[in-house]
Amino acid sequence: MAVSSLIITLSLLFVAATCTAGAVGAAATTTTALDDVCGALGEFYVTPELCASALCYDPSSPCRAARDAPAVAALAARLAAANATAARDRVEAAAAAASSSAAAPGLRACLQLYGGLVPALEWAAGSVAAGRLPGAREVIQAGQYVAVGCGGMAGGAALPRENDAFGTMALVAYAVLASMSKGY
Ligand SMILES: *[C@@H]1O[C@H](CO)[C@@H](O)[C@H](O)[C@H]1NC(C)=O
Repeated sequence: MAVSSLIITLSLLFVAATCTAGAVGAAATTTTALDDVCGALGEFYVTPELCASALCYDPSSPCRAARDAPAVAALAARLAAANATAARDRVEAAAAAASSSAAAPGLRACLQLYGGLVPALEWAAGSVAAGRLPGAREVIQAGQYVAVGCGGMAGGAALPRENDAFGTMALVAYAVLASMSKGY
């Protein structure tokens, strides 16, 4: 009896605290989970501004709605997979359009990298959403190298801008996951 009423009281307090936090958050006077996570990535050379601009670029994935650090990580992994898919599609189109130009072999090699990366990133996004970071972190790190590698293979002018955009997202997503999984 005493215990169950204590539990009810605590539950009500929790609900009240959650509602208050939501109301205050809406007035932008407290920091969100995104601000907390993005503010702690300095050792990975990611500024709070770079982090927030990457994770908040897509209005259909509301970044400030992420309620805690694992939700921010899940958002980052999902956006990295979506960006890689967009980059792969644009590289594929560029490779087809450039079929006989000097840039074609580099674009095709880049496309092969993305072809392997996209399914791995989709797995990683599902894994992080389920709370599992090991493996996902390494896949996202590999994504950084794919973006840089494509820059070297296909060259600046021939490469769609989505490659750089994905590279930035992979840098940020890797930093988010690495900051949360120190020491495993
Ligand atoms: C990919 O992510 C970047 C952030 O680095 C964003 O600005 C860009 O619009 C995204 N591009 C696509 C096609 O998804």
